[in-house]
This record gives sequence, structure tokens and C-alpha cells, in this order.
Amino acid sequence: MNKLNHHTFSDFGERIVGQSMFAILDKAKELERNGKHLIHFEIGDSHLEMPPEVKKSASLAMKSNHTHYGSSFGEHSLRLAIQKAVKEDFGFKPSLPQIVVTSGANPLIYYVISILVNPGEEVILTDPSFVTYNAVMNMLKIKDVRVKVNHKNNFRFDPKEIEKKITSKTRLIVINSPSNPTGAVYSKKDIVEIYKIAKKHNLYILSDEIYSQLIYEGAHFSAGTIDHCLERVIVTNGFSKPFAMTGWRVGYAIGPEDIINKIALLSQTIISCVPPFLQDACITALTDRKKFVKRYFTEYKKLREIVCSELKKIKKIEFSKPDGAFYIMIDVSKTGMNGDGFAKHAMENHGVVLCPGSGFGEGGKNYVRMCYANTAKNLLEGCQRLHNATENA
Ligand SMILES: Cc1ncc(COP(=O)(O)O)c(C=O)c1O
Repeated sequence: MNKLNHHTFSDFGERIVGQSMFAILDKAKELERNGKHLIHFEIGDSHLEMPPEVKKSASLAMKSNHTHYGSSFGEHSLRLAIQKAVKEDFGFKPSLPQIVVTSGANPLIYYVISILVNPGEEVILTDPSFVTYNAVMNMLKIKDVRVKVNHKNNFRFDPKEIEKKITSKTRLIVINSPSNPTGAVYSKKDIVEIYKIAKKHNLYILSDEIYSQLIYEGAHFSAGTIDHCLERVIVTNGFSKPFAMTGWRVGYAIGPEDIINKIALLSQTIISCVPPFLQDACITALTDRKKFVKRYFTEYKKLREIVCSELKKIKKIEFSKPDGAFYIMIDVSKTGMNGDGFAKHAMENHGVVLCPGSGFGEGGKNYVRMCYANTAKNLLEGCQRLHNATENA
């Protein structure tokens, strides 16, 4: 009997699908254990290490025995640092009860959606969009209503498209700027327009701003600045992407006090609290954020140029240069394969690991996503392998 298939799950258990890129990573690791040499572009992680100053703060905090349970809202000192950073960067000062620290920004997608949206209700987001939104909605029996975007217009859309999708069941709109997987950055005008639509129809906005410090063209505009996160905007952010601290699992949300209170209670129910010594060190990251982020930003911007000029040489693919984050969505339909088939072929026959676009929604199915936060050497070798894969498809 197949070991994976002999238990009967609850209906909820049946609906759990996870994140497709982690499944690919597991498969790639298995191939590597069998001696295959692979170049990894599948997961949204950096080749760079986190700031050593932050590591030092963590070990000092550990030495000071800041290693016990802490508040489910997050450490008071880190929440003060978040409050200060929001004031400096966005010009409004959230109250402390408007701030919660969580184990990464990923669980916040589950927390926010499950707290605000009932089964059978609807959430509007772009197609393609980050995989967790879809996985969470599937799990909670919430309908994802999609606004299609594609590389031909830089994955942009007219906010009026959102309004056309609103029904009596719509509860929330997701904004993710810059976007994973597309790299699109929404303009201030578009975000203000989306906010007006949300207000008119009394909807919430989940503004996932995890890549807000990695914008190469244009500028970040936070939906939170419009209502100061007092009415309908919940901003999520974290330490994974701006500081290459993906393994730390620290994120935070800013929103209306009663929603933040529920998030803290849900987080308390599931994980109790985020390790306090990690939170101490996150204060160091936030305090010197401009200095630290500059290093990552400069490197990714340089790599973006390298990867785009290499990809341009490949005849059978199409893409648009991303404005932010560190991903490129590559349309592989001219190879005669869809993203799933091409990703499998590229990994197994050419040793280059990409994330199939289908996990990001129906609109992603002709794409593979490439994370270019990698060494220039790997990017050059990986693009050559990608080229070979397109020629031998
Ligand atoms: C759009 C988006 N939101 C949230 C997350 C989760 O980040 P974290 O590592 O903070 O959980 C990611 C990670 O890839 C992401 O791309």
C-alpha cells in the first residue's frame, strides 16, 4: 500500500496543498543526492548571507537568556522599532496595538484571510499571484477571483478590472507590490484607485509589502498610508527578503487594532510566540535597515541586468523586465511545452531548476518562474542550460 495514501483526512486536511516551490526543492534535492548537478532558481531565497551585525545581536540576546516565552503580539521593543520605521518610511505612526510580530509573513496570509473571510466568500487577486494566497483560500473554501495579467503589458492591470469582479460575496482585495511572481510594481495612482474601490464596496485590503525595499524602477507606495491602517488596510511585511533572513521566520503586520488582536490570538493558538532572541536581533536589522538593504538592493539590481540580457538571447522564450523583487516570469509556450512540462524537462535533462507557473494560478501555466538572487556565475551557466532546454524541448 502507498504509505502516503492510507489515511482518511478531514475535509480540511484533504484541501491542504502547500507551496509548489518547496515540493520542487525536495525533488531537486533527491536528484542531487543521486549525483546530479543542478542550478537552483526555484525558490525565493538569496545567495547572499544576512548582515553579520544582526547575527551578533541574536547571539548576545541568547547569551542574555532572552530565550523564554514572550508576548504573542511580539516583543514590546521590536514593536516600538517597527512603529518608528513605519513613521520614518511611510509618514504615519501606528499605535502599538496596531502592530503584531509573527513567524514570517507567510502565516499572515492565512491569519488575515481566515479572520476576515468566510467559506464561500470571495477574494480578488491577480492571476498569477503568490502561491500561498491560493493554497490558503483552497484550504478555507474561499473563492479566488482573478484579474488576469501577462508579460505583454508588464503584468499590469487597470484597477477598473477589479471593480468588474466585485460581487455581493467579495470581502477582500490582495495587493502585492512588488509582486511575486511577476515583479510588477503598482503605481501610487493605481493603489489609490484600488483603495477607493475597496472603500466604495466596503472591502478589506491585504497589502503584502514583503518586497517593498527591492524596487528598481518606480517607487513604493504603501496602501497603509491612505487610511493609516485604521480602517480597511492590513499591511504585511517581514525580514526574509530585505535582509536575506528567510530562515529566521520573522514577519509583522500593521492593521486596525481589533484585527491585529485576532491575528495575535490566532498566532498564540498555533505558535504561541516568535522566539524573543530573534526579535531582539530584528531591532538591529530595522534600525540600520537603509545601510543593510543597500547591499542586497545593489546586488539584485546588477543581477537583474545580467539575467535579462542573457534571457534576451534565447529565441523561444518571452518575458518582461521586472521592476521589483527578484523573480522573472518566463513564457515558455513557444517551446511547445507548458510551464509544468518545461520545468520538469529543464530539471531532469538540463540540470536547471525553475518553478512551474501553474502554482500561481491558471494565468501562470505557460510560464516558469526564475529567482535570480544567485551568483552571476550561476546565472550565466543557468541561462545557457535554459537555452539548451528550449532548443531540445
Ligand atoms: C509575496 C510573498 N508574501 C509572503 C512571503 C512569505 O515570506 P516569509 O518568509 O516572511 O514568510 C513570500 C515569500 O516568498 C512572498 O513572496
